[in-house]
This record gives sequence, structure tokens and C-alpha cells, in this order.
Amino acid sequence: MKLGVCYYPEHWPEAWWAEDAAAMAAMGLTWVRIGEFAWSRLEPEPGLFDWDWLDRAIDTLHAAGLKVVLGTPTATPPKWLVDRDPRMLAIGPDGRPRGFGSRRHYCFSSEAYRAECARIVEALAERYGGHPAIAAWQTDNEYGCHDTTISYSRDAARRFRAWLRARYGDVITLNEAWGTVFWSQEYRDFSEIDPPIGTVTEANPSHRLDYNRFASDEVASFNRIQVDILRRLSPGRDIIHNFMGFYTEFDHFDVAADLDVASWDSYPLGFTEQFWLPAEDKRRYLRQGHPDIAAFHHDLYRGCGRGRMWVMEQQPGPVNWAGFNPAPLPGMVRAWTWQAFAHGAEVVSYFRWRQAPFGQEQMHAGLNRPDRSLDVGGVEARQVADELALLGELAPRDPAPVALVFSYEADWLLKIQPQGRSFHWLALAFDFYSALRRMGLDVDIVPPGADLSGYRAVVVPSLPIVDAAFVAQIAGLGVPVLLGPRTGSKTRDLHIPADLPPGPLRAVLPFKVNRVESLRGDVIETVTVGGETFDFKAWREDLETDLAPLARFADGGAAWVRAGAIDYLACWPGEALLDHVLGDLAARAGLETRAMPDGVRISRRGGLTFAINAAAEARSTPAPAWARFVIGGPLLTPAGVAVWSED
Ligand code: GAL
Repeated sequence: MKLGVCYYPEHWPEAWWAEDAAAMAAMGLTWVRIGEFAWSRLEPEPGLFDWDWLDRAIDTLHAAGLKVVLGTPTATPPKWLVDRDPRMLAIGPDGRPRGFGSRRHYCFSSEAYRAECARIVEALAERYGGHPAIAAWQTDNEYGCHDTTISYSRDAARRFRAWLRARYGDVITLNEAWGTVFWSQEYRDFSEIDPPIGTVTEANPSHRLDYNRFASDEVASFNRIQVDILRRLSPGRDIIHNFMGFYTEFDHFDVAADLDVASWDSYPLGFTEQFWLPAEDKRRYLRQGHPDIAAFHHDLYRGCGRGRMWVMEQQPGPVNWAGFNPAPLPGMVRAWTWQAFAHGAEVVSYFRWRQAPFGQEQMHAGLNRPDRSLDVGGVEARQVADELALLGELAPRDPAPVALVFSYEADWLLKIQPQGRSFHWLALAFDFYSALRRMGLDVDIVPPGADLSGYRAVVVPSLPIVDAAFVAQIAGLGVPVLLGPRTGSKTRDLHIPADLPPGPLRAVLPFKVNRVESLRGDVIETVTVGGETFDFKAWREDLETDLAPLARFADGGAAWVRAGAIDYLACWPGEALLDHVLGDLAARAGLETRAMPDGVRISRRGGLTFAINAAAEARSTPAPAWARFVIGGPLLTPAGVAVWSED
């Protein structure tokens, strides 16, 4: 469990570097990430490299005892490169190039740009691959940031056709898979197929889903080019990418399969403000961030990294990019850091060492202010460093008792075909996750193909495409499984299953979905469970079944059914219904739950339980009377942290 920071030596006078490095070490930081946007300084003229400054920067950091994560600079191709070959720019949905002047101005499918990336990464890795200070690499920076996963360039179109040819073999098969007989969309040859933009009304949904799959594969193969070079020229170093929050445009499990560690960039206040949460939550967690947002991503990326997860960028103060940018509550930077470690982070690295007084992010805080004085985040980072020294090293997390199955493809599919503006797959998955966390349960987030044996309960918020292997797996688990609405509702080609949803799941869940309806966002309807009434929203299905319902809609229809150990929910449950259904699941699984005080969450690592308080008021720590506290105590102040042993 180590701390780090993101540093841009090229932004500061060289005379400051040694002092900065010494101050980092004195603060208790051990890692420093550099270089990820520095291409124009590394190669100021085509083919003319200037390594001297980076040599000196790395040596300076090394001399202070810091370990370096060196970023490849491919998120920011320099002007000369773009001007020389403007076809490397991504093309937006409006058909126009996304030009130079900010960052991520490239198309993942550009073969010319792929070659340029290989060239610069190879040069960098040849120079620094064996340097003793270089302990890890970061490929590129935040793939997909600023909506850059999908591009409609000519290279993308060409590679998409090749991708389709490999997937379908012949165009007749493709026509059937896409149902192109509908509206006379049939193709005579792969060469006739374009990316799905510029159509009069919505493009063919199967075509769009394949374009998402293709674009996701492009990110993976783009990343792999760099990984292969780094493995060859810099053996023994971890290769990492920094993923984003609430970002689903490519399959992160796939990209991370080529990495050693999955890291992510944690900006809890920006995410709370920027995403779909109700206005009331945005106000309530204004300066703390919603208590499940960072945790959800820690668990997701720990899953992507097969147990290995870092926070590469941790919010240190107000950011610049959300609609509103409040300052964290005093203590919150420390609390986020502890939460990350509790969820298994190996390293938490703050973004950034010093606020830049120029450029796009001059309003974004760092650990230090532009005048070199220590900012609040820096004080809190130092506090964590001191506490870490007291706590010593902890074992990685044990597997959690509950698995939540998370599918990027589900998100693409349900964005293409939401069938109602309030159906948002990621929000649904987050609701299920939050409910588990409100009960004090630890959760592993895993991909659809994961081995689920060993978990005591499995939760699948919604998985429209299920295959026979998945059905066989959940049928044989023998532990409680909860499947959310729309699970099994589509085939791999995005058709309605021949025998209606839940398609292949009918083998284990004897019902069929005769009809679905979506509801306006301001409509709340109810179900009854025994004598109790609960809300649901956004989505409802009509099931035809002989199973005795556990919950009924107002008209008597089945809202929640069970066959053996497998449950199915035929609506988008409100919070109380979800708590009820998941509480029942936990009870059947024999899991000990603990109702969390509002805004408080716990997680377990290395024999210790960690709590943070994201409420604006003090709360009692959800620890038993016999808890032995290592940090904090029975009262959690706002932004408070407590760590204890229950042995
Ligand atoms: C991240 C990015 C950083 C910086 C930061 C600001 O998305 O990786 O380069 O822009 O956000 O919060």
C-alpha cells in the first residue's frame, strides 16, 4: 500500500525538480507518474529526439528514492505529426475530424497512427526500458476520454469491413444476423457496408452493436501494440493503463487482459456531479462524493486487473471539468485514499503534484498550489503516509462473498435499444451494487464469462445476451442467483429469442416474457410482497408462468419469481424493493449483513474492517463492541475513517 503522485517536469523550471522530488519523498510518496503527454518535448521535430531533459528528470526523481511510472505519450500526438497526416484524426458522428488543440485527437483504427505509436513507444522503451528508476509503464492515457473510442474514419470503415468478414465469413450470414431484409437494407458484398452513421433515422441495431464490438476490439489491439513493445524492451515492469469512471464504450476486461494492473482515475466529486444521480444525492454528497462511486470502480477495476488495482489519479481538491466543482470536505482526500486501500488498491497516486497556472486545467487543484505552497490535499496525503507507516503492509483482499456480473456489451446493447429514456444499464448496475453495499457486503465485479464457483451469491443486474455456458453455470452453482430485468432478452445478433425472453434461460426459469413496457422517469408504480408495498420505476415485464410470484404488480402480474436458487425481477426495483430482494438473497446465502448508517460504508482487507463516512454529519461506526480500533473509534466524524479488527 503505497502513495504516489502525477508529475509534469516539463511544466516547471528545472531548478525546481530536485526540491519537488525531495518534497514528494518527505511527504511519504514513493511513486511518481510522468511523461504521458510529453510527445512534443520528446520529439520536437520529426525523428529528432530530445531525451536529455527526461534523462535528468528521471535521474532526479530516482535520486530522491522515487519509483517512476513512465507514460507513453500517445494520447497527445504533436502538431507536426497531425499536419503531416491529418487522416489519423478521429472522425466524429457529424462526419468531421476531431482536430488538434486539446488531446486524444487520434483514431484507434488509423494504421498510420498505430505505426507512429509503435515508433515512439519503441524509442522510449529502448532508452528507458532498463533504467533502474522505471518500475512500471502506463500505456497512453485514459482510452476513450472525451468520447474518443468510436470514430468513423476511412481506416475505421475499412477495418470494420475486415472485422465483419472475419466474424461472419459471408455476407449472406451477415444479412441474416442483422435482419437487413427489414427496410431493404440488404448488402451484396462486405465492401458495401459503411459505419452506422448518417442514416435518416436510427441505423440498424445489430449493425450498431457490431460497430461497438469492433470499436472495443480496436482499443484492445491498439493497446496491445504498446504492451508487446514494452514487454520486449522493459521486462519485469508492470504495464498499466489508467481507466476512467462510469465509462463503458469499450470492454475494459478485454483491454486489461493484456495488462499487469488495472488502474483508474478517481474523481468522486466530479463523478457525483456529472452522472445520473438524483439532484438530492448530488446536494447531499456535494463535498464527499456518493459513497459507492469510488468503491464501485475499485471493485470493477480489481476485477479487470485480476486482483491487481491501482488508483493512478486521485482527486486532491476541486477539479475543473464538472458542471460545478466544489471543494472536498476537509478530510475527504484522506478518506478516499483509505477507501481505495480497503478495496485492494496497491498504490494511490494523486493528480497532480502542483496545480498548473496555465493551460486547460489551471483551475484544477493539486497537492500544491501554483505558488509552490502546500494545498489541503497535500496535507491529507501526508497524513495518510504517516498512518500507513503505523498500519504496515496488508494482504491483498480475499475474494468477496458476492459476485456482481458486469457486462460492457449489455451497456452498448441497452443504449442502442433502451426502449425508454430512463432505462440506463449502468445506473441499474450501480443501484444493485449500492444496495449490496448498504448491507455492508463486499462485492467482486466480474465479467459474464467469469468462474462464479466459490461465490456465496451472484447478482446479475441485467444481461440481455446469455449463452448456454452461462445458463449451465448458474444452474449448477447451487447458491442464490438474482437476475435483473431484460436478462436473456436478446440473441447474440440482437434479435428477440425465437421462444421469447428469457431465451436460453427458460431451461432454468420456466416463464416467458410476453410484453414489456417502459415508463416515464416521473412515474412510480408499485408491487406487493406479502402485505408490503414497494415502488418500482422505468420498466415492467409481463411474465407468463406457473411459478408462484414472490411479488406482484398491482394488476396481479408476477414481478419477482424464483425457480430453485435462481430469482428473476421483472421490473426496475426502487431502493426499498432492492434492499428487500437482496436482503432475502443474502439471508438465503447465509451471509451476515450489517445495515450501514446513512452515508457510511465498510470494506474488509487483510483481517481489518475499514469504514468511511460520506455523510455531512457524524455517524456511529458500524463496528461490534469488541472491535479493536487501529485508526479512529466508535464515532465517525464527517469524512471520518475508522479501521478495526474484529478478531
Ligand atoms: C483525467 C486525466 C488527467 C487530467 C485529470 C483532471 O481524466 O487523465 O490528465 O485531465 O483527468 O481531472
